[in-house]
Amino acid sequence: MTDSLFLQAFKKEPLRRTPYWFMRQAGRFLPEYRDVRSKFNSFLNFCYTPQAVKTVTLQPLKRFGCDAAILFSDIMVIPDALGMRVTFEEGEGPRLDPIKSANDMINLKQERVLSYLAPVFEGVELIRKELDSDKALIGFSGAPWTLACYMIEGKTSRDFNKTREFSFAQREEFIGLIDLLTNCVSEYLKAQIAAGVNCVQLFDSWAGLVPACEFEQFVVEPTRKIVKEIKNRYPEIPVIGFAKGVGTNLISYAQKTGLSAVGIDATTPMGWAKDNAGSALLQGNLDPILLASDKQRAIKETRSILETMRGTPFIFNLGHGVIPQTPIENVEAVAKTIRSFV
Ligand code: CP3
Repeated sequence: MTDSLFLQAFKKEPLRRTPYWFMRQAGRFLPEYRDVRSKFNSFLNFCYTPQAVKTVTLQPLKRFGCDAAILFSDIMVIPDALGMRVTFEEGEGPRLDPIKSANDMINLKQERVLSYLAPVFEGVELIRKELDSDKALIGFSGAPWTLACYMIEGKTSRDFNKTREFSFAQREEFIGLIDLLTNCVSEYLKAQIAAGVNCVQLFDSWAGLVPACEFEQFVVEPTRKIVKEIKNRYPEIPVIGFAKGVGTNLISYAQKTGLSAVGIDATTPMGWAKDNAGSALLQGNLDPILLASDKQRAIKETRSILETMRGTPFIFNLGHGVIPQTPIENVEAVAKTIRSFV
């Protein structure tokens, strides 16, 4: 595994070119993904079928030559493993029976999370066996705040107002939930590492909705604890944090958590991130909507990002996940631009 350009970036050594992967690189924009997906009624059953997970995890590498594969799964496996009812509605995203009070939390079965998620670890083992030694495998989890958002709201939302209301009105209970999730996420990521992933990423997609007065408690502190748990056991494994939409809170997110790298969203200027992320490696930040909309402009912006990061170890990615409408040729063009950039 020492010959992976992706892992070299974390050592802050000079690189022969910038390593790259794309969030949601395996997904509906690929016909070969849709093929496998069509064999399953339930999205979660698909996520718990190791052979299928292996197949779709490797698909984008064949097409785009990415330096890392990301385990195919979903952040909702943790609420599911905890015993919440989780389903996926076509085109609408996840549906859960929402937590309304401390009473609903009594039933969360923390002790069964790792055994319930055994198929995920089996998938990791299969993938790592088949993946070339110069490619890294990234594991992931939702971060506590973002998981709590879905568990309380019961579905996706523009503002997650119910969750924020809960966090103020039932503060102790909410902190209890964050603590429980912090433990589950730590154990889950360590088990992914034991199964063979080379790096892990925390998705805190809704961190941008946390009020400034709670950012430390709901985002920084849980992240710091998870990083510490992982680093105690696996000091060599890089941990990437992706807290979307956090603006200037990126400074404390990058500097107080011990994260090895931070993902930068598309609204944050890379130059600003470079000046404010402390010693954390940066990953980002091409706008996925631009990628889907305008190939020539996407190539231009890719070059501009690479130019801004010239001379600094860096991982190229998007500012958020690839959207289903994305033309494959646009992704190919961006990959080619990165590979040939000197
Ligand atoms: O990056 C990858 O390629 C790995 C796979 C991955 C998926 N979901 C597959 C998926 C990852 C890393 C995720 C993370 C995830 N899931 C997040 C955090 C990142 C982000 O996008 O903010 C969140 C919030 C979720 C929850 C989730 N899962 C939503 C909101 C949806 C519906 C969105 C949609 O596009 O329909 C999902 C379903 C989902 N997860 C799909 C895929 C490929 C599409 C479902 C399908 O194929 O039927």
